[in-house]
Amino acid sequence: MATPPPHPRRVLVTGAAGFIGSAFLRQLLSAWPDVQAMTFDALTYAGHRENLEDLPGAERHTFRQGDVAEGEDVARAFADFAPEAVVHLAAETHVDRSILDPAPFLRTNVHGTQVLLDACRTAGLRLVLVSTDEVYGDRSDGVPATPTTALRPSNTYAATKAAGDLLALAAWRTHGQDVVITRCTNNYGPRQLPEKLIPLMSLRARAGEPLPIYGDGLQVRDWLHVDDHAAGLLAALARGEAGRVYHFAANRGRTNLEVVQAICAAAGADERLIEHVEDRPGHDRLYTLDDDATRRDLDWAPRRAFKAGIGETVAWYLENPAWCRAVAGEGLTTFLEANYRDRQAAERPS
Ligand SMILES: NC(=O)c1ccc[n+]([C@@H]2O[C@H](COP(=O)([O-])OP(=O)(O)OC[C@H]3O[C@@H](n4cnc5c(N)ncnc54)[C@H](O)[C@@H]3O)[C@@H](O)[C@H]2O)c1
Repeated sequence: MATPPPHPRRVLVTGAAGFIGSAFLRQLLSAWPDVQAMTFDALTYAGHRENLEDLPGAERHTFRQGDVAEGEDVARAFADFAPEAVVHLAAETHVDRSILDPAPFLRTNVHGTQVLLDACRTAGLRLVLVSTDEVYGDRSDGVPATPTTALRPSNTYAATKAAGDLLALAAWRTHGQDVVITRCTNNYGPRQLPEKLIPLMSLRARAGEPLPIYGDGLQVRDWLHVDDHAAGLLAALARGEAGRVYHFAANRGRTNLEVVQAICAAAGADERLIEHVEDRPGHDRLYTLDDDATRRDLDWAPRRAFKAGIGETVAWYLENPAWCRAVAGEGLTTFLEANYRDRQAAERPS
């Protein structure tokens, strides 16, 4: 095994009971055999202990339930674990929910990020802030956003993530704080909550249920496998430069319709299940990132091809019904499904 680069030995990971956080934690523990990790997670509707089962190097991992927006929770975790660096993934992440109720997004994504920034500054720790391509808003002109492109978020989720990024850059500029920001395109892979497109459509396709797609379904997204994102985060943690923004992308846009068609093929479902429903308000048509500088400076590149990756991902959801049941619940009622039900009700003869 290659010798890992110099790296922090004690890493606190916020949001590691979620989709990307748990994939990152797995890579952190397996790539760096001398690392100790703490998961710091509030276990909201999106966070699940099931995502932390079968961790490699589980004996080097501890779990702490806590809220990033509560200074005392963060202070106690820092005092008990004594981290050398923090990777911050905890967030409210579902755009549809942010349209319905902005409050938790402001609390976690804005205030919570500032709480962590303050704690890291006091303790003199590196903070890697995990952000998103959505902060740039619609790129319908097709020009990929660079790390210096102006932020023009279109929805509350994206606006609160942009606010977190700006607070981090302000802390770097004002205090010389060691912050690294990463922005990534859409992730796919195992353990994503089935309120999001790929797991939701996989489960519905297999059940032979209608597949509601927003509007014409021609919105374009770039899909990166979560393990490729996790590898990028590890590189940013070890080698990222303070004050910089790194982009991670697969550089291959696909329409939502193409993605759902690929899911139908993988799940053995009929594409005629696809139904177009009223579009999400403010729905961006295209996101695209220029990640040349990241590839060069962090020596990073994605390894997983979408064609193989989507098949494996759909299979994972279909082969893990116990996981799906464990994480499912009231929280899985999505805006998308509600929209669909409203339309069905409107069309039903009275
Ligand atoms: N999913 C994507 O495609 C994508 C793409 C780019 C960037 N991101 C960013 O990556 C990060 C992780 O996204 P994800 O898809 O894994 O999210 P997720 O919704 O699956 O998980 C979020 C986790 O954060 C925890 N959390 C929420 N509020 C908290 C709080 N106040 N205190 C502590 N923990 C809290 C939840 O319990 C959950 O475990 C987010 O910051 C998101 O903005 C996601």
